[in-house]
Amino acid sequence: MARYRLTDRTVLITGATGGIGTAGARALHARGANVVLLGRDASALAALARELGAERALPLRADVTDQAALDEAVERAVHRFGGLDVVFANAGTAPTRPATLATIDAEVFERIVEVNVLGTWRTLRSALPHVIARRGHILVNASVYAYVNGAANAPYAASKAAVEQLVRALRVELGACGATAGVLYAGWVKTGMTRVAFGGDPLATRMREAAFPRPFARAITPDLVAARVVKGIEHRAAALTVPRRWQALGALRGIANPLVDRALIRHARLQALLWSLEDEGERPTRQPAPATGAGAGVDGR
Ligand SMILES: NC(=O)c1ccc[n+]([C@@H]2O[C@H](COP(=O)([O-])OP(=O)(O)OC[C@H]3O[C@@H](n4cnc5c(N)ncnc54)[C@H](OP(=O)(O)O)[C@@H]3O)[C@@H](O)[C@H]2O)c1
Repeated sequence: MARYRLTDRTVLITGATGGIGTAGARALHARGANVVLLGRDASALAALARELGAERALPLRADVTDQAALDEAVERAVHRFGGLDVVFANAGTAPTRPATLATIDAEVFERIVEVNVLGTWRTLRSALPHVIARRGHILVNASVYAYVNGAANAPYAASKAAVEQLVRALRVELGACGATAGVLYAGWVKTGMTRVAFGGDPLATRMREAAFPRPFARAITPDLVAARVVKGIEHRAAALTVPRRWQALGALRGIANPLVDRALIRHARLQALLWSLEDEGERPTRQPAPATGAGAGVDGR
């Protein structure tokens, strides 16, 4: 397939004020694209647009849970640049501290689904007619959490698995019209979102170290992700995995996931950390594990 050139294309980026969004905006702009920067923080958006220059950068405030705001932002982008070729649906949120399904605050759970799933869907809903008209490309920022076990991070993992499925369906639905869609699966990236698991919260840090073997526990830079985003769009890639060390696990997930899950159930240190997440008074669904069987590792026996 011929390379899809980004020069003079118009790319809309949600979550443009965050780590990956900002790096992506810079990289796409450097490739010659007009960038439409969507976010909630007006001063951060304005600063990024100033850095890139007003000629090819348009900052617009929009919360991805707000369909009317997204519709308006897309219309303004189309009015300014004459159309919309590419969307990088990147905005997302994660719990600020680990929590189990038995104890997570319902509002926290629902907010994550609202932003990550409905926010992505609403972004697509506003932008799709324009991208289809231009035979462009949609890239959705999922995560390796689309297939990694989400223990203590379940709403995030569930939301990322959900957006992966949105894109699979979309890619097929777009098949006849010439537009394309792809999923970005990034591992740990050094951004505000992951600070909590890299020293920001001691328990979250210990859980990352316990649940992820060394090479998978390391974080990469947003710039590395941004470079792959550019290449992925230029190749209309269906799947983009960064860093590449996650690729085999993603490809073999049907075989690997049941084995990994079994290992995590028997992982004494991880089980002890999960146990410590739950306060004595909030354990309606968990009883101490018996000394034998799947949960026997909880107290190290
Ligand atoms: N960091 C990682 O390790 C990693 C790995 C894989 C995938 N991802 C995904 O990458 C994407 C970007 O995350 P990041 O790591 O760059 O984190 P980040 O620095 O926290 O950026 C998140 C961005 O999303 C925006 N956002 C959150 N809620 C929003 C809402 N309701 N409406 C509009 N924008 C909203 C944030 O804006 P505000 O500042 O206004 O909240 C921010 O610009 C997310 O989808 C995340 O799940 C991250």
